[in-house]
Order: sequence, then C-alpha cells, then structure tokens
Amino acid sequence: MSFKKLKCTSLGFVTLWCLLWPIVSQPAVPDGFWYGETAEEEKVLIEAFFDPVCPDSRDSWPSLKQVVQEFASRVRLVVHTFPLPYHDNAFATSRALHITNKLKNISATYHLLEAFFHHQEQFYGKATFNKSKAIVTDHIVEFTAKALGSSSSYHSAIKSGFKDTNTDHATRYAFKYGCIRGVYGTPFFFVNGFPLADAGSPLNYKGWRKVLDPLLR
Ligand SMILES: *[C@@H]1O[C@H](CO)[C@@H](O)[C@H](O)[C@H]1NC(C)=O
Ligand SMILES: *[C@@H]1O[C@H](CO)[C@@H](O)[C@H](O)[C@H]1NC(C)=O
Repeated sequence: MSFKKLKCTSLGFVTLWCLLWPIVSQPAVPDGFWYGETAEEEKVLIEAFFDPVCPDSRDSWPSLKQVVQEFASRVRLVVHTFPLPYHDNAFATSRALHITNKLKNISATYHLLEAFFHHQEQFYGKATFNKSKAIVTDHIVEFTAKALGSSSSYHSAIKSGFKDTNTDHATRYAFKYGCIRGVYGTPFFFVNGFPLADAGSPLNYKGWRKVLDPLLR
C-alpha cells in the first residue's frame, strides 16, 4: 500500500511538473525555416542545423540545396540556426534570419542565409575585432536590408527587430532545440530524425545521394 501511495505521489508530481513545464519553456511555434512548399508526411525529412558564419555550413549548402531541389517531390528540408559560441556574431546573424522570417517570406530568409554564406568574412575575425556590438549590429541591419532588396523600406523594421525580445527568444529557442537534439557543431544533419555520421563537416552531392538513394527507392 505504501508503495502504491509513493507511486501516486511521484506520478502526481510528474503530472504537475509536466503541466507547468510548457507554460515556462515551450516556444509558441516549432522552430525552423521550411524550404519551399509546406510539409507532407510521405517525404524524406532533412533537418539541417546551420551557423550563418560557419564556413563548413556554407560549404555544405550548395550540394544540399541541389538534392533538395532535384528531389523536391520526395524530400523536404527544414533549416535551424545553431550559432556556435566560438564564431563571432553567430547569434546576431542568426537573429537577423529570424527577424527576416517574421518580416518577409521564406524565400527571403533563404536568400539572406545565402548572402551571409557568401560574405561571412565581413562578420568575424579581423573585420569585427575592434568594433562595438552596436556598430556590428548596425552593419548586420544594413546588410540584411540590402539583401532583402528594398533597403529603405525594410531598414527600420529590421532595426527594430533587433530590439524586439521575441526575435531574441526565437533565436534562443532554435539554439536550445539543437541542444535538445544533441547538436554540437555545424553543419549537423538529421534524416528522418536520425543524425548523419560525420556531423560538423560538409556533405557533397555524391554523399547526399548515397544517403538518400536507398530511402527514395
Ligand atoms: C518574397 O520576398 C522577396 C524578397 O523581398 C521578394 O522579392 C519576393 O517577391 C517575395 N515572394 C513572395 C512570394 O511574396
Ligand atoms: C585594433 O585596434 C588596435 C588599437 O587601435 C590596433 O593596434 C589593432 O591593430 C587593431 N586590430 C585589428 C585586428 O584591426
């Protein structure tokens, strides 16, 4: 009887804990930037964790984009930002992506991601070593507005996006989501929920076909 009582108490505690936990800890919507059309159940799901200022993330993107476009009817992709602590301005550039995603459409988000990949050298190392956080943020705002095309109309919206705590939280959730999934470097890929070997290094087109072909057969 005492055992039963103990069990109920701990179950009660667990239930209470489970009920309270969502109030403090879950994001309002799941994290991620879905590439192209909305998801369908039957497709192979690729989840990619990228750091916008990570050279290996940059190098892995063209081949991933190629296979996702080539097999668009069978494969879907979601990208999560995962700013690494040892990359300068990884969090701020990730935040710019979350701001853009809220402000614009998904193609603008991917366009900005590609722009960061192409111009990473502006955001780390010597380029920002002597610059204050305010100056670097201004540069990221300029860069983002320019990438979105009509710099004058989006500039102020992007600037205020950096003052909006919601975009800070969205970027934190993305990072925490990666932590929960066991991500420890970038690029980091999951296929149908399972991690790929060689995490943290780019996969070329041939490598992706080797992974996907057996699943698409
Ligand atoms: C999405 O945003 C881009 C960049 O501003 C714009 O050029 C494009 O027309 C938009 N596409 C849609 C479908 O709204
Ligand atoms: C940073 O500023 C200091 C002092 O002005 C200068 O000596 C140094 O070379 C600068 N470093 C870089 C990487 O620009």
